[in-house]
Amino acid sequence: MLCHGDGLLGTFTALLGTALALSRSPVLACLLAAGLYLALHLFSLEPAAPQRAQRLVRPRGAAARIAHRGGAHDAPENTLAAIRQAAENGATGVELDLEFTADGVPILMHDETVERTTDGSGRLCDLTFDDVRRLNPSAKHRLWSKFQGEKVPTLKEAVVESMQHNLIIYFDVKGHANQAVDALKQLYLEFPRLYNNSVVCSFMPGVVYKMRQADRNVVTALTHRPWHLSHLGNGTARFNSFWKHYWYMMMDVILDWSLHSFLWRLCGVSAFLIQKNFVSQEYVRHWSSKGIQVVAWTVNTFAEKRYYETVLEASYITDSLVEDCDPHY
Ligand SMILES: *[C@@H]1O[C@H](CO)[C@@H](O)[C@H](O)[C@H]1NC(C)=O
Ligand SMILES: *[C@@H]1O[C@H](CO)[C@@H](O)[C@H](O)[C@H]1NC(C)=O
Repeated sequence: MLCHGDGLLGTFTALLGTALALSRSPVLACLLAAGLYLALHLFSLEPAAPQRAQRLVRPRGAAARIAHRGGAHDAPENTLAAIRQAAENGATGVELDLEFTADGVPILMHDETVERTTDGSGRLCDLTFDDVRRLNPSAKHRLWSKFQGEKVPTLKEAVVESMQHNLIIYFDVKGHANQAVDALKQLYLEFPRLYNNSVVCSFMPGVVYKMRQADRNVVTALTHRPWHLSHLGNGTARFNSFWKHYWYMMMDVILDWSLHSFLWRLCGVSAFLIQKNFVSQEYVRHWSSKGIQVVAWTVNTFAEKRYYETVLEASYITDSLVEDCDPHY
């Protein structure tokens, strides 16, 4: 059955064609495609229960409003104050960034260094939890005077605070795959409510795969921004070298294709978190036909939010629940 939008069939047709062109041997090409098809079936992880995932990503069948880093425009990002503020402002959930101190304590922080968000300096991997706890995570925020006495929270403190406010949590995992999976697995053991209330998401398919290997009940999502290997969020090229730039652009094409054709199936994700400029009605419908929810980031203007709520009826991640603001990437 050859139909438009069947990613898997398209994938294997493309693979077969490429293998055939490269090897000029139909037998070899067929064996290769068949082998990969078999591998995909052997190693694919079943997605989490679709109804549970759906209730989580689109509670009551409507678009959810998720506060990016806890709502970085309305309060200092990744703090307990941000979580409280998001709840007060009517957010459905919060997106929080998981990082680790030098002594392995899971905390909330977006960057690998502390300069941008705190009054300290240095790399997180050189700072112990005690060091980090002495920093002020409100120091650089536009509303710093309103949020005094904040500390960088541990992952657990943030989870407890979010649960107290009935917020859904999107855990964003940037790296340290094994450490992150261990910490999250422990968290789900301690707070089983999280199975109904949280999503683990990452740009890295390896992180998502490991998380689901460790615990098949966890709802997960792949995060994606087309061209993110070669370009920054604002469109500037990451690399000056001509060859490096085009090499990474080629990697971007392969990654984009892999994510849309087979990685989502291999990881058994329930949702796809994608940069808003790449979302259309057609795109949402395409994923929905596969049982996958689309969540867009970061949707920061009133007009865009209305479009997501009334036309796309898709959930979105935003920096502010109360006013228009410039996007963070
Ligand atoms: C998750 O929600 C379902 C349906 O509401 C409920 O039956 C189940 O007990 C909940 N699981 C946990 C761990 O809270
Ligand atoms: C994009 O961001 C980078 C790094 O923050 C900055 O150096 C660059 O000037 C920005 N480019 C544009 C077009 O805003």
